[in-house]
Amino acid sequence: MGTARVVFDRWSDRYAKRMADVRSSAVRDLFAAATRPDVISLSGGMPDIARVPIEEVVAAATSALRDSGLEALQYGSSEGRPNIRSVVVDLMAEVGVRAKLDDIVITAGAQQGLDLLGKIFIDPGDTIITEGPTYLGALQAFSAYQPNVVCIPMDDDGMRMDLLAEELKRLGPRGAKFIYTIPNFQNPAGVTLKPSRRRELLDLAREYDIPVIEDDPYGRLRFEGGHALPLRALDEEVIYLGTFSKILAPGLRLGWVIAPKPVLAKFLLAKQAADLCGSAYAQLTAERYFADTRWRKVLQDLIRGYSERRDAMIEALEEYFPVEAHWTVPAGGFFIWVEMPSFLDLKSILAEAVERGVTYVPGDAFYPDGRGRNCMRLGFCFAKPDDIREGIRRLAEVLEDRLELYRAFADAGALSAAAGITEERG
Ligand SMILES: Cc1ncc(COP(=O)(O)O)c(C=O)c1O
Repeated sequence: MGTARVVFDRWSDRYAKRMADVRSSAVRDLFAAATRPDVISLSGGMPDIARVPIEEVVAAATSALRDSGLEALQYGSSEGRPNIRSVVVDLMAEVGVRAKLDDIVITAGAQQGLDLLGKIFIDPGDTIITEGPTYLGALQAFSAYQPNVVCIPMDDDGMRMDLLAEELKRLGPRGAKFIYTIPNFQNPAGVTLKPSRRRELLDLAREYDIPVIEDDPYGRLRFEGGHALPLRALDEEVIYLGTFSKILAPGLRLGWVIAPKPVLAKFLLAKQAADLCGSAYAQLTAERYFADTRWRKVLQDLIRGYSERRDAMIEALEEYFPVEAHWTVPAGGFFIWVEMPSFLDLKSILAEAVERGVTYVPGDAFYPDGRGRNCMRLGFCFAKPDDIREGIRRLAEVLEDRLELYRAFADAGALSAAAGITEERG
C-alpha cells in the first residue's frame, strides 16, 4: 500500500485560522490506499443500500420529475417542502415526538445540521460537551468554529451522568454552549443512553441552563429491546437532528432539525447563507417513496440484515479476539467499540491490518485530543456476514502478533524481576 502524498500548498498562510483545527484524516488517506478488492472494510459507516429496492426509488424519482418537474427543478423554500416535513411529522410521532410542520427545517443530511448548529452557537474558545468518544463528523463540523470540547465518558448505559454532573458543576451555570449527544446506538461506541439517564441529562441541562442537541440517525435501527423515548419527546427545548440516510438512502442528502422557534429562526438564516434551500428534487423523491407503505418492509429488512451482521461480528469477536479485548454489544445501529490494553497503539498497527486485508477506525479519530489510541471502531453495517467473520479473524491475527510481543517483554520483565528478588533473597 502507498503512503499519503504531501502536497506543497503555496496558499497555506492565507487560510482562516479556524481551518487549522479542522483535522485532515490520515486514516482516510490510508483507506484511499486500501482499495484492493480483497481488503475487507470494517471501518466505514455506509448503509447496506443494496437492500433498498432500486425500482421503487426509480419510480419515486420518475414521478417527482414527471408529475412535479417544474417544482423539482426550481428553487424551493429554505424550510423544505411542506409535504416532506409532513413525512417527518409522521415519522417523529411514531417514536413519541410531537412536532408541527413549522418546528421542522429540512437539511442536507444531519451533517449539515451539525455544521449549522456549530455556526449559530459556537464562538472561538466556547466550551461544548460531547460524549467521549463521539461522532467524528460532529468533531469535524464543530472544530471549524474553534470550541473547547469536553468529553464525558460512557459506560454500557451511555453517557455517565455522575461525570456530567461533576463537569457541569466545574463549568457553572451556562458554562457550556451545548451538550451534544447520540443517545441511540452511539457512533462510535454502540451504546444506548438508558431511560433514567435521559431524564437525568435533561434535569442537569435545565439546572445549568444549557441547550441539548440530540443526534439520532440510528434510533429506528433497533434489533432488540424496547424503544427508548427520544430526549425531544421528554423536553421540547431539545434540538433534535434526524436523517433519511439510514432509513432510505444517504445519497439523497436529506435530514431534518426540530428545534424551539427562536433557535430554528437562527438556524434558517444559517441554512439560507449555506445553500439557499435544499434539493426540491430529492425532497419530492422522498415524499413519493414514503407515500407508499412498502418502505416499512424495506426498513424491517434492513434491520434484519444489520442484526445478522451484528451477530456475525460478535460471534467472530468471541471466537477469535484475544482475551485482553473488551467490546460493546449494541442493540442496534452500525458500530461496535473495542478496547484493548492501554499499551497497544491501534493507530500504529492499522497499516499492518490493511496489509493483511482488513480496515477499522482507530479510536483517537473520535476524540478531540488524541485519546482512544488503544480503541477501535468496527462497523458491521456494510460487509457481508462471511466477510465480517474473515475480517475479524485477520484482525485478531494482527492483534495477537502485537500482544505476543508485549507478553514476551512482560514475561522477560517478570523473569528479571523474579531473578532480582531471588538475588536479593540470596
Ligand atoms: C451520529 C451521526 N450523526 C450524523 C451523521 C450524518 O448523517 P447524514 O447522512 O444524515 O448527514 C452520521 C452519519 O453516519 C452519524 O453517524
